[in-house]
Amino acid sequence: MSSTKPISLIVSITFIFFLQSSSAQTVVKASYWFPASEYPVTDIDSSLFTHLFCAFADLNPQTNQVTVASTSQTKFSTFTQTVQRRNPSVKTLLSIGGGAADKTAFASMASNPTSRKSFIDSSIRLARSYGFHGLDLDWEYPSSATEMSNFGTLLREWRSAVVAEATSSGRPRLLLAAAVFYSNNYYSVLYPVQAVANSLDWVNLMAYDFYGPGWSRVTGPPAALYDPSNAGPSGDAGIRSWTQAGLPAKKAVLGFPYYGYAWRLSNANSHSYYAATTGAAISPDGSIGYGQIRKFIVDNGASTVYNSTVVGDYCYAGTTWIGYDDNQSIVTKVRYAKQRDLLGYFSWHVGADDNSGLSRAASRAWDATAATAIIIQKV
Ligand SMILES: *[C@@H]1O[C@H](CO)[C@@H](O)[C@H](O)[C@H]1NC(C)=O
Ligand SMILES: *[C@@H]1O[C@H](CO)[C@@H](O)[C@H](O)[C@H]1NC(C)=O
Repeated sequence: MSSTKPISLIVSITFIFFLQSSSAQTVVKASYWFPASEYPVTDIDSSLFTHLFCAFADLNPQTNQVTVASTSQTKFSTFTQTVQRRNPSVKTLLSIGGGAADKTAFASMASNPTSRKSFIDSSIRLARSYGFHGLDLDWEYPSSATEMSNFGTLLREWRSAVVAEATSSGRPRLLLAAAVFYSNNYYSVLYPVQAVANSLDWVNLMAYDFYGPGWSRVTGPPAALYDPSNAGPSGDAGIRSWTQAGLPAKKAVLGFPYYGYAWRLSNANSHSYYAATTGAAISPDGSIGYGQIRKFIVDNGASTVYNSTVVGDYCYAGTTWIGYDDNQSIVTKVRYAKQRDLLGYFSWHVGADDNSGLSRAASRAWDATAATAIIIQKV
């Protein structure tokens, strides 16, 4: 028995190297951009990223084709060449759907072979004609066992189609990704993990929006990496749920927000987590971009707190309380992603950063962190 171990180790290592050199991405350091952020594409410091997502293309519910709003066509069709000026090797993906999209249209499209083909063929045509390197599906969310199964079928057919298109066009295969719920378990409905793992280059785990004034009357960490009680949502719980269900860590990309949520405290002296509030502050849903948070802190002399147990930041001034991720939270999450041998990280969204500060901190943290050699540990 013991004599077989070194052989299996060598075989495993050879296999891993083969996989990495033949097909897989080695790292994803990514962010999303969208036109309504009013952040100029030319301002993105693309040297801090390996991949950038351009969001969102729409699904036409009548034709089941992917389209881009006429007001966005110029920005989308020039996105790749614009971001490649500062970083010629950055890859771009066209994102389809998003949180505001009609999820019933996606469910309907995925339920039938003809409409799936319209979606798939039109998405490939659009990606190629605009010069994107890949496609990203943000269907938030498949919400029943049937929809999850159809989501899996869609992904398998999409993969076959991009492989066939690469062969016939002689061009590198389009990358395929999807943004998914932070956990593999979406309110008791399970994602089709095998279809996800076999069809997609990776998934973006949206590990945020855990607390917000729209659904929580008390303050809380909007994007905790850990929940000490182990009862609530957290990034770590999400990563564990996906990998325990069979997603390879190297297909998982951890998401974090470049925005926070602001609450109005019931009592200015009670400003820890789970403090009572009277609802949202600053904006109707309380959401506020990181750049605006930095400005709020300076303008109001706000107190800032980093909680290393949950990995989250908050600040407060008077009765205004904001939960968010600052440098230390982002850096800790990036180190976590590297040490767990995840493929990488992404943020929503690049335009909410403060002079690229979070993206710079994240990129440096990834480069400075040693990966854990899981394969050696297992043997
Ligand atoms: C961090 O947050 C946890 C969860 O609310 C809390 O139990 C702990 O006391 C906090 N730590 C600090 C240093 O504030
Ligand atoms: C965060 O880190 C980046 C990169 O080191 C730095 O440029 C920026 O000033 C930092 N921001 C804060 C608020 O410390």
